Amino acid sequence: MKTNISIAATMLMAPAALLLVLGVISPWNRVQAATQSEDTIEELTPSMSYEEYQKRYEKYYGDATARMAEEGNPADFLLDDGKELAGTVAGSKGKSCASCHGKDALQLKGKATDYPKYNADLKGIMTLPLQINICREKQMGAEPLKYESYDQLALTMYIKSLSNGLPIKVSIDGPAKPFYEKGKAAYYKRRGQLNFSCAICHVEYAGYKARSNLISNNKHHADHWPSYRLKWGKTGSLQRRFRGCLKNMRAKRAAYQSEELRNLELYLTYINNGDLIQVPGMRM
Ligand code: HEC
Ligand code: HEC
Repeated sequence: MKTNISIAATMLMAPAALLLVLGVISPWNRVQAATQSEDTIEELTPSMSYEEYQKRYEKYYGDATARMAEEGNPADFLLDDGKELAGTVAGSKGKSCASCHGKDALQLKGKATDYPKYNADLKGIMTLPLQINICREKQMGAEPLKYESYDQLALTMYIKSLSNGLPIKVSIDGPAKPFYEKGKAAYYKRRGQLNFSCAICHVEYAGYKARSNLISNNKHHADHWPSYRLKWGKTGSLQRRFRGCLKNMRAKRAAYQSEELRNLELYLTYINNGDLIQVPGMRM
């Protein structure tokens, strides 16, 4: 009798925990169904369209973000400093970015649109922050910049801003394909104490609330980084956001620029192909 009660209690508790986090219960959903086969994951579009999600966003946050935008983006300072850094000599070879990429590194205009991308030397995926550090080490004889440091974010933001207004066009052809598949698997994989996957939230429950946050539809997830975030009171990278969501999932957080996060970045950026790059972004 006692065991029956505790089993019944457990059966009630598990969905109740989910209910708490998502405000909705569904033990079986499309994401679950799409990941049944080990080798192929069906590509799903979010349950709620981006337009519908946007309406909910406006209803939920009111004009809070518009007011934030009016006051200006604090990340604009990084943009100016990034431009200056591009012309600053560093390292043993006496060079700046501008020595090889033109005044204000303007020859890199439009070059960020196909990042991240496959790189033969890495035998893996190259991201913009990683490429910048490789240029510093190999071409300048300078120390790599610590990820999420002010200078690293500023340079990444400035180089990325040289592609502002242009559509993302990431390729997953040829050697990039297996890394895309790994990134996609990571997006759909359940993990952490709460047994969530990225897709459960951003595909299946986009537009619902998780605690006091509205869960975003995964469109426009990759087009605005580095971004200023009110919650951080700071500017951060896309991978910082990944790590934040992993923390909320109570899952292990892979290191910045680890293979896992680079593959995830490839997958997420690829599904945002066509979205226009616009840095710096600003988010709650
Ligand atoms: C001595 C010359 C040199 C310097 C200095 C240099 N780079 Fe590079 N950069 C290269 C070369 C060569 C490539 C081509 C790819 C490679 O070999 O890594 C490249 C590639 C790049 C790319 C990728 C372009 C593309 O088409 O995908 C970016 C972005 C970049 N560099 C940024 C920077 C930044 C930012 C700095 C300063 C921190 C810098 N580079 C300093 C030589 C240089
Ligand atoms: C429990 C639900 C939940 C899970 C699971 C989750 N996220 Fe999130 N995520 C959120 C919420 C809520 C936000 C904040 C939306 C906003 O900024 O308005 C967010 C924001 C983001 C953003 C920023 C969106 C933007 O427009 O700036 C990215 C990128 C992101 N998540 C990626 C991921 C990845 C990758 C995973 C898996 C490792 C993941 N998320 C797992 C709830 C979740």
